[in-house]
Amino acid sequence: MDITNTRADFPALENHTYLNTAGIGLTPQPVTAEIQRLFGAWGAQGATTPTFRQELQPLAATARERAAKLFGADADELAFTGRVAESLHIVVDGLPWQPGDEVIVSDEEVLYMPIYRLAKDYGVVVIKMRLDHRREDLLNRFDDLLTPRTRLVWLSDTTNKSGVHIPAREICALAHARGALVMFDGAQTAGQFPVNLHEMGCDFYAITGYKWLLGPYGCGLCYIRRDRIPRVRALRVGHGAIDHASCDYAEAEGAMRYDFGVRNLILRAGLNESLEYLGGIGFEAISARVAALRRYLIEGLREIPGVHIGSPHDPAMGSGIVCVALEGVEPAEMVASAWEAGIVIVPLETAQGRSDLRGVRVSPGFYNTQEDLDRLLEVLAGLAR
Ligand SMILES: Cc1ncc(COP(=O)(O)O)c(C=O)c1O
Repeated sequence: MDITNTRADFPALENHTYLNTAGIGLTPQPVTAEIQRLFGAWGAQGATTPTFRQELQPLAATARERAAKLFGADADELAFTGRVAESLHIVVDGLPWQPGDEVIVSDEEVLYMPIYRLAKDYGVVVIKMRLDHRREDLLNRFDDLLTPRTRLVWLSDTTNKSGVHIPAREICALAHARGALVMFDGAQTAGQFPVNLHEMGCDFYAITGYKWLLGPYGCGLCYIRRDRIPRVRALRVGHGAIDHASCDYAEAEGAMRYDFGVRNLILRAGLNESLEYLGGIGFEAISARVAALRRYLIEGLREIPGVHIGSPHDPAMGSGIVCVALEGVEPAEMVASAWEAGIVIVPLETAQGRSDLRGVRVSPGFYNTQEDLDRLLEVLAGLAR
């Protein structure tokens, strides 16, 4: 990767030291240019002009096919959604539930509301799992929590607080051995690590476009394994579900049945562009670079007195998301001091009672450099003094 050329694609880097890819990734110039171009054509030509439609529709379809190739799935196992929360709703609201069914969630999940609603509506039991940072401990604890009543497991395969990157394939194997389904929140994984959904073996996977995928807001994907589609009822039906000529009701084929109503195809075309951009760099190269930046950051942090790192020590369990606390310094002060130096990081104030994860979150993308991290380390060292 030629980092100087790459950085030139991210105008925001000229203005700030941006270390919040886990919040919202920086959008590269080719992606913003494509979205602007398409909205411009929308205004100049009118949305239903045949020439414009003929250009836009294939771009959206290509996004699904490109995503399928990049993430090791079939295109008809992917539904476009607006966000992770929507993907989770599609699965959770579409599955049948009985009182006493169990769902395992971790204590680092950010999106657990649809699961908690199951408890209220159907008497489903939510089992909260502490996410260990040591691989064997994590898998043992998970195995201990599985029971014959476990119906679903909902975990981030990379969490947005400690950034622990869990062994997804092994989790799937353990859960499936007990007859439980697995859905991962891949918001912090897709675009940061290589993902192969068929090899991973999960049943459902939620992807969002605006973090590590560097795409537009409000555009994501939900993977539903082919043989699980008949089990997940599409609760909302829109265009494509009815044959207008005969008024026959027939749900769309594959995961397309979950794609509800009129869609913003320009966002999908924007995601298509960002997938093309990232695919050109390669997820192996991206994850190697992010891992190297993480290593550098952690080495630097260890030199600063009073620093506590809330992220895994084992690099194989870590990610480009690092939780940092500084003794005697409030997270808000750390964030404000960083911003005075032009550095964007965010506070981690609450984490479902996890006081060990109170601090700030630093999440460099592949477009960051060691010099970016040096600037932050200097600010933190100043605060420690
Ligand atoms: C792990 C995780 N899941 C989900 C989300 C939210 O995703 P969306 O806005 O697509 O629902 C976030 C956002 O911070 C996240 O970190």
